[in-house]
Amino acid sequence: MANDKVTLTDHRTQKSYELPLNDGHIRAADLRQIKTGPDDFGMMSYDPAFMNTASCKSAVTYLDGENGILRYRGYPIEELAENCTFLEVAYLLLNGELPSQNELKDWVEQVSQHRLVHENLKKFIDGFHYDAHPMGILTSTVAALSTFYPEAHNIKDKLNRKQQILRLVAKMPTIAAYAFRHSLGLPYVFPENDLSYTENFMHMLWKRTEPRYQSNPVLARALDVLFILHADHEQNASTSVMRAVGSSHADPYAATAAACAALSGPLHGGANEEVLVMLAQIGSVDNVKDYVKHIKEGKGKLMGFGHRVYKNYDPRARIIKRTAEEVFKVTGRNPKLDIALELEKIALEDEYFVKRKLYPNVDFYSGIIYQAMGFKPEMFTVLFAIPRVAGWLAQWQEMLEDPEQKIARPRQIYIGKELRHVTGKSAGLRAVASD
Ligand code: SDX
Repeated sequence: MANDKVTLTDHRTQKSYELPLNDGHIRAADLRQIKTGPDDFGMMSYDPAFMNTASCKSAVTYLDGENGILRYRGYPIEELAENCTFLEVAYLLLNGELPSQNELKDWVEQVSQHRLVHENLKKFIDGFHYDAHPMGILTSTVAALSTFYPEAHNIKDKLNRKQQILRLVAKMPTIAAYAFRHSLGLPYVFPENDLSYTENFMHMLWKRTEPRYQSNPVLARALDVLFILHADHEQNASTSVMRAVGSSHADPYAATAAACAALSGPLHGGANEEVLVMLAQIGSVDNVKDYVKHIKEGKGKLMGFGHRVYKNYDPRARIIKRTAEEVFKVTGRNPKLDIALELEKIALEDEYFVKRKLYPNVDFYSGIIYQAMGFKPEMFTVLFAIPRVAGWLAQWQEMLEDPEQKIARPRQIYIGKELRHVTGKSAGLRAVASD
């Protein structure tokens, strides 16, 4: 379209520039032509924390923060959570379409056959203290996987990429279960190939001396739904890390380990664990009002609330809240839910949170369910990382296949010292010389 451009006037030089619009947005590189003279490097956009910068074009996930919309490959999250299994959704994210019956059968079969990990990996996990945080174990063990599959560095080979993707989707629950068992001093449990993704995970977590753990079908399905809800979320911090590390052509295990590290932060995937710490600190429904006052005085954050993109209710939180009721029919009601519900009620009516558009996010209710299922808070972010691997890998392969992408290397605005010189030998060298 003829008017698919913007005109910028640089009042320093009185020059005007026409910048073409690309899907309605300018290319930051087009700003470089705006100079005050021949020695000028040219203009950049300055955007700390990338509040308004698109790092890529992606077809994987669509978010509409104002209207609380989340779609994977065009499908609303509500419909996927209602009608699909996690492995179907993982297939959708990775391949762009939901699998046919035969494709799904083949995919489930392949994932089942890759659940085992090399026996040596157990030695890594054994090396951790019993009370090592399971996210530290998961992050380190995923990184170690790249040494078991050296061919994974051949990231240009599409079939090779698919093989590593399959291994990661299949092995994440095994490593997570081993980390959990290690923390309890229990023996590792081999996967059972004929169990579903979440039934097998629960078997590897909870089996004692019985031949096979019989998971409650309501809880197995609830975990499957939670995995669907956590599978991808466009360019969040950990996905951005996955893309950045992948852009240097590091192997997918190294990139996934880096993404796990980013996810572990309390402002990101670590928030679900912090929500339980917060609810325990509040202690009872009667204390909620005082706690909210504490937050409004700027003495901390309401963990599980707020989001960079959602300025409305996180659609995942709504589904998780419904799932909680299903879980509590089996496990008994987690008393922390009452505190969480009162916290949500007060916050949603309070001007401080309304003005800042702070709503419950995916982490606000998930931890309450996980705790009712028998998980310790330290495992919550691990439960986030398992399904998110499908999204990270879908974004990773999309980045590698995008002809516009290359190694991620942002610019900076330098605000340090101007040129200056070392006068004489430095103190360090003088100390050496006098010895
Ligand atoms: C996830 O990006 C993703 O998609 C992430 C994720 C995914 O699926 O990958 O959705 C998963 O990480 C969810 C978020 C989990 N984190 C938490 O629940 C931690 C608590 N939330 C906040 O730390 C915060 O809301 C963030 C980090 C989630 C978003 O922060 P922003 O976008 O940088 O917002 P901000 O910090 O600039 O806050 C704007 C204002 C500030 O107040 P003022 O300085 O304007 O007075 O809102 C306030 C903040 O202080 N604020 C909060 C708050 N979150 C923001 N105040 C109290 N409690 C909060 N939770």
